Amino acid sequence: MQTGWWPSCFPRPDKAAATAALAACLLGAHVPASGDAAAGQRLAAAKCVSCHASTAPIHSTLPLLEGQPKAAFLAQWRDFRERRRTAPVMVSLAEELSEQDVNDLADHYAALAPPRAPESPGSDLGRALADRLRCADCHGPAMHGSNAGAARLAGQKARYTAWSLQQMRGGTRSHGSASRPDPLLAGLSNADVEALAAHLASLP
Ligand code: HEC
Ligand code: HEC
Repeated sequence: MQTGWWPSCFPRPDKAAATAALAACLLGAHVPASGDAAAGQRLAAAKCVSCHASTAPIHSTLPLLEGQPKAAFLAQWRDFRERRRTAPVMVSLAEELSEQDVNDLADHYAALAPPRAPESPGSDLGRALADRLRCADCHGPAMHGSNAGAARLAGQKARYTAWSLQQMRGGTRSHGSASRPDPLLAGLSNADVEALAAHLASLP
């Protein structure tokens, strides 16, 4: 099995790696190697933009990656690699690409600005729900995600966010470290989910 960039308390084959991993484990922090954003850009152009591009409106259900914090990107990648998320194309890319490739891609996407024009006019109901359920506690005051691995939600395509929330509410996708299905989302109607997604898509 390939070892990854994520901290682990399990011993590694060589001593330096084991020490670094233990340090990362004790600090409780992700300490990814630094990537090469220019190499990430070349790789993204070859392998990612056909599905993940803010300029292609036909892909309304595919997530935008621009501005995703590195820690969130790496956490998502790990979920595909470990098959906690099962989208076949992403699982096979996660098998194919090296740790360095993924670091490069994460740096590339973290450095990009998300699309300027918000997709959605917003929703007062969605804003009120986000406030009441305190989504910003983890996703950051501007919903830009966090270094602890919470994803950027601001400006994400509404259809993708609604779909993710439905999966998390139903328990087919985990939501951070919450139990499955996530009790935070249990009481939300489909209209609530749509409103939350529209609100989040409207944020810069
Ligand atoms: C053929 C289409 C396709 C290609 C090419 C593709 N992806 Fe994806 N990607 C998807 C789909 C579909 C999802 C949603 C996965 C799900 O259903 O959980 C996704 C999800 C992701 C996510 C999780 C985002 C989130 O907000 O949940 C990341 C990160 C990602 N892709 C990175 C990449 C990178 C980097 C590349 C290029 C190396 C790439 N993808 C190429 C289709 C694609
Ligand atoms: C206790 C912390 C916490 C709270 C509170 C929280 N989230 Fe999250 N959320 C996370 C983490 C961590 C992730 C990334 C890991 C994952 O995908 O499971 C995440 C991921 C997501 C995703 C997937 C994004 C993507 O691109 O794949 C969505 C959508 C989401 N959260 C919406 C919400 C909404 C809406 C709220 C408020 C109702 C909320 N979250 C509250 C921690 C939290």
